[in-house]
Amino acid sequence: MTLPPDPALARLKARVADIPLGAKAEEIGTVLAIGDGLATVAGLPGARLNEILEFPGGTLGFVLSLEEEVLHAAFLDPVIGVGAGDRVIRRDALLSVPVGEALLGRVVDPLGRPLDGLPAPDAAERLPTERPAPSIIERDFVSEPVETGLLVVDALFAVGRGQRELIIGERQTGKTAIAVDAIINQAGSDLVCIYVAIGQRMTAVRRVIEAIHGRGASGLTIVVMAEATAEPGLRWLAPFAATSMAEWFRDRGRHALIVYDDLTKHAATHRELALLSGQPPGREAFPGDIFYLHARLLERSAKLSAARGGGSLTALPIAEIEAGNLSAYIPTNLISISDGQIVTSATLFAANQRPAVDIGLSVSRVGGKAQWGAVKSQAGRLRLDYAQYLEMKMFARFGGFGDAAMKARMARGERIGALLAQDRFAPLATVTQIALLLALNEGHLDEVPPDRIPALKSVLPDILAAEPVLDTLRARPEKLDDAERSALLAAVRTALDRP
Ligand SMILES: Nc1ncnc2c1ncn2[C@@H]1O[C@H](COP(=O)(O)OP(=O)(O)OP(=O)(O)O)[C@@H](O)[C@H]1O
Ligand SMILES: [Mg+2]
Repeated sequence: MTLPPDPALARLKARVADIPLGAKAEEIGTVLAIGDGLATVAGLPGARLNEILEFPGGTLGFVLSLEEEVLHAAFLDPVIGVGAGDRVIRRDALLSVPVGEALLGRVVDPLGRPLDGLPAPDAAERLPTERPAPSIIERDFVSEPVETGLLVVDALFAVGRGQRELIIGERQTGKTAIAVDAIINQAGSDLVCIYVAIGQRMTAVRRVIEAIHGRGASGLTIVVMAEATAEPGLRWLAPFAATSMAEWFRDRGRHALIVYDDLTKHAATHRELALLSGQPPGREAFPGDIFYLHARLLERSAKLSAARGGGSLTALPIAEIEAGNLSAYIPTNLISISDGQIVTSATLFAANQRPAVDIGLSVSRVGGKAQWGAVKSQAGRLRLDYAQYLEMKMFARFGGFGDAAMKARMARGERIGALLAQDRFAPLATVTQIALLLALNEGHLDEVPPDRIPALKSVLPDILAAEPVLDTLRARPEKLDDAERSALLAAVRTALDRP
């Protein structure tokens, strides 16, 4: 008697036949030494840079540098109960982060793990943390502005979408405030913002998060955080991981802005890890690849060509200097790989000129091409006039100027200073900026006492908003026609007439 063939048995046989029964080589490494967030591992000849390794207890790390016999891995988790002699296995995967819409509004660590007490972001996609920068063919010229809402930036050192503008200055001179104000001004715009905190105190990051979330800018913002007490590996990874999160938007034809706060601390982390892994120290004890590290990071910010969707990623890296020394190693590196710098000055900050932007040392190498036409035409002489005023002011200390023309210039300069000063969290819409600059250029502010200017700035937006003639200017401030000019000046007069 023959049994009918059993279909279940046939399926089972087919499955068993597919299982490779031969020997399978698996690399198992051994921890040789552990120190300060770094492990030296032997026995993983196949491991690649940025590959994820698993230590006992599920502790994760990644390959930071390779030598002939050993490799150095940086930990991504607190190192508890890992010691010399422990086994290390390869996860056979490179470092990657969750990306996409789901991250908006969230506070995450550099691996995309939640830090805001909410469940992990529900992201369907992942991207590697190291990605090549767009090639020349894939890029386009920077042509649209990022509106920061800060008059001193938008008028004098405009930042274009796709540009890299360094914010550099001594500690506590309002560097973070400039970047955070730029983020807050995006409430209601199409620009996705990513704020990356590297090696900062927890309280400082908290203040930034509260500022962003308390002012309606959280919907399009991602905060990536690797604070001072985070594993060095996480601090090292933070800017790269956050850039991948930003690129997801850039590559879909959207626009993103990323703030690295700050790259001086990132450089210090890189030095720490390099020295611990025995790399030869170079200038200021930084390893030789520090320039390449930040160059490859900032090159990922770009304006993409129409064929690639026309998206953009703008970078505002922040760097700290000591004693005003812009020519130290890391600052000069960063200056040379960005498209300009906004320099904050401790002297101006102490003299209550805030934002404390040093007009003489700051520059934007592409911004003018991206500036709105109407802003550009009104801001034309501003920088020169203000620089001349600052110079004359120095000499005026030695004795007054009798000359009427000189006096007029001094008066104009003083008003420019008052216009450029701006409180935190008080962004000015582009149309308000144009109205103020126009009034200044036409001499309407020359008789106004400088201490009246803050009040002018606070009442003007509402008066302008009630002006339907300005609708086209609000939508696209490319040029001013006569009707718009007179509407703007009338609004300024109305504002000045208010008690
Ligand atoms: N435009 C401004 N008007 C008034 N206060 C300001 C302004 N900008 C910054 N500040 C204040 O100055 C202080 C320092 O600002 P901020 O933290 O931005 O400086 P920083 O250069 O980033 O400092 P750090 O070196 O510690 O990172 C903060 O208390 C901030 O509120
Ligand atoms: Mg800061």
